[in-house]
Amino acid sequence: MKTKILEIKELVKDQSPENALRLVVSAFRGKVVFSSSLGYEDQVITHLIFSNDLPIEIFTLDTGRLFNESYSVLNSTLDRYKKPIKVYYPQTESVEKLVSEKGPLSFYESVESRKECCFIRKVEPLKRALSGNAIWITGIRADQSTLRSNAEQVEWDEANQIIKFHPILNWTFEEVKEYIKKHNIPYNTLHDKGFISIGCAPCTRAVKQGEDIRAGRWWWEENTKKECGLHT
Ligand code: ADX
Ligand code: SF4
Repeated sequence: MKTKILEIKELVKDQSPENALRLVVSAFRGKVVFSSSLGYEDQVITHLIFSNDLPIEIFTLDTGRLFNESYSVLNSTLDRYKKPIKVYYPQTESVEKLVSEKGPLSFYESVESRKECCFIRKVEPLKRALSGNAIWITGIRADQSTLRSNAEQVEWDEANQIIKFHPILNWTFEEVKEYIKKHNIPYNTLHDKGFISIGCAPCTRAVKQGEDIRAGRWWWEENTKKECGLHT
C-alpha cells in the first residue's frame, strides 16, 4: 500500500485540484467517492466534480440532526448542477435504540455519549458509503486544526481501509471563499452568520472573531480533540 500511496502522491504533485481529480479518477475509475458535509470547502470540490463531469460519486451523511440551512444548500446544489448527491442515513434500529434509551440530547452528557452518537449517526454510515471503493476524497484543509496540519495530501485511512485524498489541503480559508464567490457556487448561509465549520445543529455554534476555526464544534467539551471519528 505504501508504494501505491507514493505513486498517487507523485501523480497529483504540483497539480491543480481539478487536474489532480482528473488523474486520480482515470487511475481508479468507478472507485472514487467524495464525502460532502455541504460546507464551504466541500462545495468547492462539488463544483469541480460536477462542472467538469468527473465520474466521482458525491455523497453526504445526513445524521438526522442537520441545520435547515444545510438542507437548503443541498437543495440548491441539486438545482444548480442537476446531478445526484447520494444521501446516507444512520441505521434506523441504532438511532431508535439510542434516543429511546438515552434521550435526544445524550451527547451533552459526556464525551463518551457524544462519541456514541457520532458513531451511530456518522461513522457507521461513512463505513458503508466507503465500502468497495479505493479513493476517498475529502475537503479537509491543513489550517483547520493542529491535527489536520499534519495531514498528507494522500494518506492511508486505517479505520476504513481506504486511500484518502484531500485536493484542497493547502488552500487558505480566504482562497475557498474567493473561489465560491467567483464561481457563484451555492453555499450554506450560516457561513454569513459567523459559522465556519458546520456539523450537526445541536453541536455547532458560530465562532467569535479570533476564535479557533473549530471552536464552534462540540463547544461545551474542553480539552478534547474536536473530531467526531470520521477522521482519525
Ligand atoms: S468533522 O469530522 O469535524 O465532522 P468536518 O466538518 O471538519 O469533519 O469536515 C471534514 C470533511 O469530512 C469534509 O470535507 C467531508 O469530506 C467530511 N464530512 C464531514 N461531515 C460530513 C457529512 N455529514 N457528510 C459527508 N462528509 C462529511
Ligand atoms: Fe450526534 Fe452531535 Fe455527533 Fe451529530 S455532531 S452525530 S448530533 S453528537
